Amino acid sequence: MAIERIVDTSDHEDDEIEQIIEISLRPGTFDEYIGQDRLKKNLKLAIEAAKMRGEPLDHILLNGPPGLGKTTMATVIANEMGKSIRVTSGPAIEKAGDLASILTNLQDGDILFIDEIHRLGRTVEEVLYSAMEDYKLDIMIGKGPAARSVRLDLPKFTVIGATTRAGALAAPLRDRFGHIYRLEFYETDEISRIIMRAANILGSKIDEASAASLSTRARLTPRIANRLLKRVRDYADVNGDGIIDAVITKKALELLEIDELGLDPGDRNLLTHMIDNYGSEPVGLNTLAALTGDEATTIEDFYEPYLLQIGFIERTPRGRRATLKAYKHIGKIPKEPTA
Ligand code: ADE
Repeated sequence: MAIERIVDTSDHEDDEIEQIIEISLRPGTFDEYIGQDRLKKNLKLAIEAAKMRGEPLDHILLNGPPGLGKTTMATVIANEMGKSIRVTSGPAIEKAGDLASILTNLQDGDILFIDEIHRLGRTVEEVLYSAMEDYKLDIMIGKGPAARSVRLDLPKFTVIGATTRAGALAAPLRDRFGHIYRLEFYETDEISRIIMRAANILGSKIDEASAASLSTRARLTPRIANRLLKRVRDYADVNGDGIIDAVITKKALELLEIDELGLDPGDRNLLTHMIDNYGSEPVGLNTLAALTGDEATTIEDFYEPYLLQIGFIERTPRGRRATLKAYKHIGKIPKEPTA
């Protein structure tokens, strides 16, 4: 990634303490979980039905941009089912044997959470199909002519898969999920409530106006909201008396170079490159990546979803184009009429 970003939603957090705080901020039940109401309704129903029948939950696929709470939702589901959760990710399961050892250590009803499930390798994916379909594990024992295949019974587990790209999932794998849901961006008032809740857990004093002001800059994403809150709390502790008010919030956000819509220098750089080089004409993803020095996947997964959501860029068959709204925000004047 070209620029270190406070609004980065990636999971590669190297600060262990931050991670522990992050986990403790996570809601543990549906009642504590703010937002995603439609998803919660569907899941509550599925959980109640599974409990009534004494069966495991059907497999669940959660899809959506990073930072919207897919992992959190998986832990809430496990808690609500009263079952254990084992957390892993597509890239972490390198060999079929890795998956076999995870699966054989589960108990009936346990949840196996696979983050970035679209990054599973082909052979691992194939072992997972039959495990999901009929709780059987087909493994090869031995090598060469003596090799033979054995079928092991597995506990009746539930896979919760998370992906930022449902389209990248192989169709046979997608078909094994009984529930497929998309997590939506949050409303700003939900983000405000998430900030107030987190401040309360952290023991920080913040007024509602400051929480509201932070919420408009959190890109409608809880992970970013909590990260901004922690940075503003640092500022309040060092430069004030620990209380987060309007003045502290404004100064801390200025220092972080996050504007009133939550765009950081990386976003503004992207939009400026698009406008300066292509005006309101479409530009391909790889060209854009070459212009900004970012990975194409970084643009696609981290920058673009929010810029699309707020209508600053549009996707066309010929690439992405900047909209009039983006021009206005960056302070540029379009040469020709644009959308
Ligand atoms: N912290 C992070 N996401 C949250 C959510 N959806 N509800 C409450 N607290 C959260």
